[in-house]
Amino acid sequence: MSSSENNKIAFFETISDSLSRGTLRKATLSNPVPGVSWRRVTLNLFKNASGALEVAFHYDNGTQVERKNLSPAEASAALSSLIPGQFRSVNVRTTEQDVQFEETRQRTFRLKRRAHSGEESIPSHNRSKNYLVPSDAPFLRELGISMEDGTIRRDRHDKFRQINKFVEVIDDLIPQQRLQASDGISVVDFGSGKHYLTFALHEHLRKLSASSRTLGIEQRPELVSLGQGLVERLEIPNLSFNYSSIAASDVKAADLVVALHACDTATDDALHKAVAAGAEFICVAPCCHKYVRQKFTGSADLLPMLRHGIIEERFCESLTDSLRVLLLESVGYQAKLFEFISLEHTAKNVMITARKTGKPNQDSKVALERLKDKFKLPDFYLDLALAT
Ligand SMILES: C[S@@+](CC[C@H](N)C(=O)[O-])C[C@H]1O[C@@H](n2cnc3c(N)ncnc32)[C@H](O)[C@@H]1O
Repeated sequence: MSSSENNKIAFFETISDSLSRGTLRKATLSNPVPGVSWRRVTLNLFKNASGALEVAFHYDNGTQVERKNLSPAEASAALSSLIPGQFRSVNVRTTEQDVQFEETRQRTFRLKRRAHSGEESIPSHNRSKNYLVPSDAPFLRELGISMEDGTIRRDRHDKFRQINKFVEVIDDLIPQQRLQASDGISVVDFGSGKHYLTFALHEHLRKLSASSRTLGIEQRPELVSLGQGLVERLEIPNLSFNYSSIAASDVKAADLVVALHACDTATDDALHKAVAAGAEFICVAPCCHKYVRQKFTGSADLLPMLRHGIIEERFCESLTDSLRVLLLESVGYQAKLFEFISLEHTAKNVMITARKTGKPNQDSKVALERLKDKFKLPDFYLDLALAT
């Protein structure tokens, strides 16, 4: 039998073994063949309420994600209908190894494995979800999210879920091979606040590549001291904090820029810095939106709708975020806007992610100018910032 066929058999053996033993952490199917409507399919193993293993499939078409839960046996069957044939690349992370499976253009199969030190297997008892940030991470205890025994405090579950969801989004945004590269990735977190997300992301990235490094930028000096103190106490390498406003910060390069709930135009400052630094990946969750609401007039036909304050507020939020996405596309990013966590956990649940393509989208530029004209909006801050 050819080595290519052996690779295919070995790959499916690894998958079914990790599904039945409960050692699968995550599998990502990417690089769809032309005509396949899904951009990516991800699988996560979890234990349902009665303790049985199930596999959550997330089918992502770029704008929507559909979820389906299957038994491990059904999951193996579903996978063999997707690969080979529909996706050319699969990354699998188990508690013991990382596996990369590729179908080449010549229709041969390549398989690479990398063993790593054991991670905890699927959580049982009261934890039905396979969290990327474990509840007993020391920084969670230090920041008051968890207790001494690693249990999440009753009133901090929303924050814990939000932290995990955010790390999952980044883990999905950036290809695993890139995250595991020996030189790691460099991250800047603008408006890092009490740094929950900064620590969570850094600790996750460091597990994937020890060379990953993270810088938090924060304008409140007491929070910068808190972050630095914690880094020293927990002896965490390659994580630091700078006291600065986002606009005045001196960030010349970064692979990934994040800004979570940076207020109003601080999100735009972060996007501006990200583009100027040539960031390959961007992830922002905007917060309060004031700038556009102050500048915007709106066309007369929309007045019956916009005379209600709450409608005007929501409309301006949507307009601002749509313009941000169009601008990112027009300067060479592929961008996406979605709800990243359900409303019951936080009202500020819109996220914009972007991946650099280097190909400015002229249609987005035209659409952006049309929207500004339509709503008699002289500028929306980010366009001014990027023009300077
Ligand atoms: C709502 S908190 C969010 C903190 C953190 N990113 C999180 O999601 O947990 C916003 C933080 O951004 C900081 N911030 C707001 N505008 C800023 C600016 N222009 N420059 C630097 N930091 C800023 C605030 O001081 C605050 O700590």
